Amino acid sequence: MIPESVIEEIKYRCNITDVISQYVTLKRAGSNMTGLCPFHSEKTPSFTVFEGSRSFYCFGCGAGGDVISFIMRAENMEYPEAVEYLARRAGIDVPQDGARRDNAGPAKQRLLDMNRAAAKFFYSQMKESKAALGYLEKRRITPALANHFGLGYAPDDFGLLTNHMHKLGFTDDELYAGFLCGKSKKTGRAYDYFRNRLMFPIINTSGDVIGFSGRVIGDGEPKYLNTSDTAVFKKSRNLFAMNFAKPVCRERLILCEGNIDVVSLHGAGFAYSVATLGTALTDDQARMMKRTTDEVVISYDNDAAGQKAANRAFERLREAGVTARVLVLEGAKDPDEYINTFGADAFRKLLDETYSEFDYKFLNILKKYDIRADEGRIAASNETVEVISSIYSSVERELYAKKAAAKLGVSSESLMHDVRAAVRRRSRQSKRDETETMKRRIQGLGDRVNPDRIKNLGGSAAEEAILGIMMSSPEFIAKAKDGEYGLTPDDFVTSLDRRIYEKMLEYGEGFDVGRLNGEFTADEVSRAAQMQVRRMGLANTEDALRDCVAALKRSASKNASIEDIIKNKRKQ
Ligand code: UTP
Ligand code: MN
Repeated sequence: MIPESVIEEIKYRCNITDVISQYVTLKRAGSNMTGLCPFHSEKTPSFTVFEGSRSFYCFGCGAGGDVISFIMRAENMEYPEAVEYLARRAGIDVPQDGARRDNAGPAKQRLLDMNRAAAKFFYSQMKESKAALGYLEKRRITPALANHFGLGYAPDDFGLLTNHMHKLGFTDDELYAGFLCGKSKKTGRAYDYFRNRLMFPIINTSGDVIGFSGRVIGDGEPKYLNTSDTAVFKKSRNLFAMNFAKPVCRERLILCEGNIDVVSLHGAGFAYSVATLGTALTDDQARMMKRTTDEVVISYDNDAAGQKAANRAFERLREAGVTARVLVLEGAKDPDEYINTFGADAFRKLLDETYSEFDYKFLNILKKYDIRADEGRIAASNETVEVISSIYSSVERELYAKKAAAKLGVSSESLMHDVRAAVRRRSRQSKRDETETMKRRIQGLGDRVNPDRIKNLGGSAAEEAILGIMMSSPEFIAKAKDGEYGLTPDDFVTSLDRRIYEKMLEYGEGFDVGRLNGEFTADEVSRAAQMQVRRMGLANTEDALRDCVAALKRSASKNASIEDIIKNKRKQ
């Protein structure tokens, strides 16, 4: 646990408006500040900073919390990391013990030390193996390039790494926790997880080895084996080679699918390239890119799967507000093969001829159909209309429609006519969807943050009001703690609200939403922030509070009677 006094000091010195201003352009609106939400894509500002309560809330996506919650989201950090980050910013010392130690499993530093030792071992094994050296040569990875990436070789053996790590003092449990070893079902002992593989250490921007990606030498299944998520490695939040790319990717970042592509690109002088680690591009990664570069060039494999993945990546990047383009390869299946076949200069030329999202989609439509025939032209036009109608800006829609019509040999008027019809259809559909979600929300269905709500809607509304009032007027929490309103955690009908109330009682008057960080999920913290925001501008008086407590108790007894009725019915 990090001492409360330290947290308080951090929150005092890291003014929430100052911190958030580094991420969001804020404008004053009354006593609050507003701006475009960094956590979802929007055109009008619904992100609000409440200086009075030192909190933020987005009326669009519902993200909310205190300055620490903000950093956790914006920097993709866990609670202790975010605290340390802000502490460093404010020049405060965080007692190391508290922040670093994780109750479950070995401390982070220990895992990092273990990974570094393993990386050294794999590296040393490379020289010993003819097969591995031969493979590097075959893939045209020079010794210098292999050194640069710290590539290694996991020998074709079940015990070499395990023995080596034992000698260095690492225990089986530590090796399991770091995903370096599996546990044998037969013997119950540790065995090497990576065998006969070319090993890519995954290194974060602080230079720590956080995990590994291992490609089988030659053919074999699975082709790649990656470290699963550990206390120091989250696949969805890291990118391969970002350690090298970060300082040189301000203007442009090349995003690949394969580790090997990235190695080749770096070898050819494109150090501003990274790869996802065996997953589709995630929101977290897209947001990370938003902060590190002005333009992402998607450079995926030249096949149907790569095309699909590129379309998804465009979407993720668009949502994160990142400018993205795609590089189209001809005559090679991936960037690695392209560079080996045509050379670095040819690739550099492709970088100057990248496609926008629309142009790329349109290009693929033109590839798919023979537009010299009527059927093909009609099908291509219809598909183009679908693509254009899904674009938000009407200016863009018109521009693209003109461009596409000319290529398709149809009039831009008729294409635009179809586009407008499709836009209307989409807007009707999205209104229907919206009403549907609203209905579900009112009924409490599909509430993933607080699934108990559905069981007692009246009660949960009362609870939320109670918690909201108390957060707005913390002196009521102190009174509640003294038993003033006769409200105990057991009175609560949903477990989320009960847990929040318990935290309130623990902290008394010193409670604010930020106290939930770390123990509650980001969405739960946001929900609490929402309860507070919803009470703004309402009378948060003691009378209102007492009314809500009474309503909560009534709803609980009413609910019990319904359950009794059901029970009695069953008995009959
Ligand atoms: P590719 O199959 O394109 O691999 O998968 P590659 O890196 O280009 O390797 P070569 O050129 O065929 O040798 C792209 C990425 O998807 C992940 C890896 O991160 C790989 O780099 N992947 C692939 C896995 O995680 N597991 C697999 O079984 C296959
Ligand atoms: Mn490949």
